[in-house]
Amino acid sequence: MPADQVRDLADIAALECLAEELGDILGPGDVVLLEGPIGVGKTRLVSAFVAALGSTDQVTSPTYTLMHVYETPSLPVLHLDAYRLSGVAEYLDLGAGDFAHDSITMVEWGDRVADAHPEHLGLVLEFGRSGETSRRCTIRRRGRSWPLPDTP
Ligand SMILES: Nc1ncnc2c1ncn2[C@@H]1O[C@H](COP(=O)(O)OP(=O)(O)OP(=O)(O)O)[C@@H](O)[C@H]1O
Ligand SMILES: [Mg+2]
Repeated sequence: MPADQVRDLADIAALECLAEELGDILGPGDVVLLEGPIGVGKTRLVSAFVAALGSTDQVTSPTYTLMHVYETPSLPVLHLDAYRLSGVAEYLDLGAGDFAHDSITMVEWGDRVADAHPEHLGLVLEFGRSGETSRRCTIRRRGRSWPLPDTP
């Protein structure tokens, strides 16, 4: 298993850089599981990612709607939230799997449905210690090799 990478993000611009980097390496069928406490920036990261792929769609939290689909010039992004789900069975019932092979899937509270995705990129966000906008992101590569550049 490759070593986890840790990125210290000073502000939203740094989060957007990470999103652009992900935009370069992710392709159809890829799954990103986002973890981290309420308000840490999971939705913000999906928003930055969708923008990095060239979409002007406004990204909103799928906590209550459970699944959003954003069209981008390259491929759709499925945005899900497992916070209110009872488990993997209910998650699979949402039907994202039907479109996932042509899309990139991003799941907030994704650790709750990791069993459904043996191959995934895990992004664990934490609040940073150097100011209100600072965050730390631990990147876990699971199930296959993910072409992530070495930490700068
Ligand atoms: N470096 C940063 N990265 C991400 N968000 C940041 C950063 N600095 C400040 N923020 C702000 O933090 C908030 C993050 O909210 P967001 O809805 O993305 O959190 P969340 O993790 O999705 O929460 P929830 O668990 O409720 O879904 C936003 O208002 C965003 O502007
Ligand atoms: Mg959110």
